[in-house]
Amino acid sequence: MAILPILTAPDPRLKAKAARVATVDDRIRTLMADMLETMYKAPGIGLAAPQVGVGERVIVMDTGKTEEDRNPLRMANPEIVWASDEDNTYEEGCLSVPEHYGNVVRPKEVKVRYLDQDGAAREIHADGLLATVVQHEMDHLDGILFIDHLSSLKRNMILRKLLKTKREAEAE
Ligand code: NI
Repeated sequence: MAILPILTAPDPRLKAKAARVATVDDRIRTLMADMLETMYKAPGIGLAAPQVGVGERVIVMDTGKTEEDRNPLRMANPEIVWASDEDNTYEEGCLSVPEHYGNVVRPKEVKVRYLDQDGAAREIHADGLLATVVQHEMDHLDGILFIDHLSSLKRNMILRKLLKTKREAEAE
C-alpha cells in the first residue's frame, strides 16, 4: 500500500468528471487500498479518486471514530437510487480544501448502489454522517467540491485564500 499525494483546490483535476470503472480488478483494488491508507493518514473520513489525481469513479469512506471501530467502505461507480425529501445541514470540510469549512444542505438519507472491491453489486441505506459523506464523495466524481454548494462570495473567498497558500508554498 502507498500514501498518495492529495490535490488541493484550485486544481483542474478536481473539476473534471470521472470515468466509470469498467472492471473492478487488482488495479482498482490497489487504488482503493491506497486511498484508504491515505485517508486514514490524513486523517479524513472520505476520499474520492480525483483527489489523488485518478479520474475514475472510486470512493472510500470510514466514519468510525476510533481505530477499533474501523469500518471501511470501498465503492466503484456509486449511484444514488433514492434520496429522502428531508434535508440535513452539516458543516463540511474536505482534504482538498484544507482548513476551510461550510454548512451544506443535502438529503438526510440516501440509498446508494455501487460495486464493492470484489466487483459485486451492493446497496446501502445511508443516514446521518455517512449520508453526508457519501454524497460529498460522489460530488467529487462529477468535479463538484463542497464549496460549490456555498454562496459565490464565500466560495471565492476560500479559493483566493487557497491560491495564496499555494503560491506561498511554491515560492519557498
Ligand atoms: Ni472532499
